[in-house]
Amino acid sequence: MRIFEACGIYLEFNSSAVSGKTQVYCLIGDPVDHSLSPAIQNTAFRSAGMDAVYVPFRVRRKELKDAIRGLRAIGVRGFNVTTPHKSHVMRHLDKLDPTAREIGSVNTVVASENGMLTGYNTDGIGAVKALQDAGAPLNKTALLFGAGGASRAIAHALARHSKSIRLVNRTQSKARELERRLRRKYRIDVSHHALLRTRLRNLIEEADIIINGSAMGMDGRADLPIEENWLNRDQWVMDIVYRPPETRLLNLAGLAGARTLNGLDMLVSQGACSFELWTGRAAVIAEMRHAVARESLAFAHAKNS
Ligand SMILES: NC(=O)c1ccc[n+]([C@@H]2O[C@H](COP(=O)([O-])OP(=O)(O)OC[C@H]3O[C@@H](n4cnc5c(N)ncnc54)[C@H](OP(=O)(O)O)[C@@H]3O)[C@@H](O)[C@H]2O)c1
Repeated sequence: MRIFEACGIYLEFNSSAVSGKTQVYCLIGDPVDHSLSPAIQNTAFRSAGMDAVYVPFRVRRKELKDAIRGLRAIGVRGFNVTTPHKSHVMRHLDKLDPTAREIGSVNTVVASENGMLTGYNTDGIGAVKALQDAGAPLNKTALLFGAGGASRAIAHALARHSKSIRLVNRTQSKARELERRLRRKYRIDVSHHALLRTRLRNLIEEADIIINGSAMGMDGRADLPIEENWLNRDQWVMDIVYRPPETRLLNLAGLAGARTLNGLDMLVSQGACSFELWTGRAAVIAEMRHAVARESLAFAHAKNS
């Protein structure tokens, strides 16, 4: 076994096992040096006993088109896409899954045997699957913060299960547009609301599931303007932010006795969906979760030292 460092990510390789037959998968984005996806996917390949490897590549905006041509040329079997390419990548693909097209964001690309590239979005199904696996009752009222790429994906996935969805976003026009699309497509009870502290209390108290799909609470950004006594023990609270893994929202939810899921739960779940799209095999979630927890801890130590 050899430890290989790529863009700050430590990959464990049995180097003799990497050969001309090894299947290559990758991540493209900028930055990628602290991504947890290599830990997740390489663990999944290893657990499945596959001769495959997953490598992160930093791709600048102006190099996206060339990068996709290069990935086609060398025959990668699939790749993940992260910031800032999730929407721009769509114009360079051959096919789009209808939901990814509707959301306007792709995070997973599958290459077929004949080299055809198809784009999917696993953020929404990943978040919903994490909630389902934890036992959350999805057929109730959900409150979703955010209307960016990840929130739109989650809203579409939730709309297949929820009784009603309340959307809250800083830029109201984006929440309004999401509301319009959800209502047209799923014919469910959906409404949008301003991100105003005075309005949030009622919305939070009435929700069964609360999801922060926005960047609020991320390292260095403003927190959600809510209080502990607005939350209760019958609720489920998910924060998709994973840096830090324990956000203020999750902290308050824990104090209120609510059940919580963090951004790492979703990250593993959406990664498992990518793995399954690429390989057709079930992912070994427990090992992926273990790997991501270890990497996340290493990142936090490195940051604080
Ligand atoms: N756990 C996972 O697997 C996973 C997957 C994907 C993303 N994420 C995380 O989810 C978050 C959102 O990602 P994204 O791809 O949806 O990003 P995005 O498309 O850029 O959207 C960002 C969202 O956050 C809101 N926002 C940003 N700064 C804010 C602030 N200071 N106050 C209030 N609202 C603010 C934006 O509101 P406006 O519309 O008003 O700008 C928008 O709704 C990021 O933290 C990302 O790391 C996690």
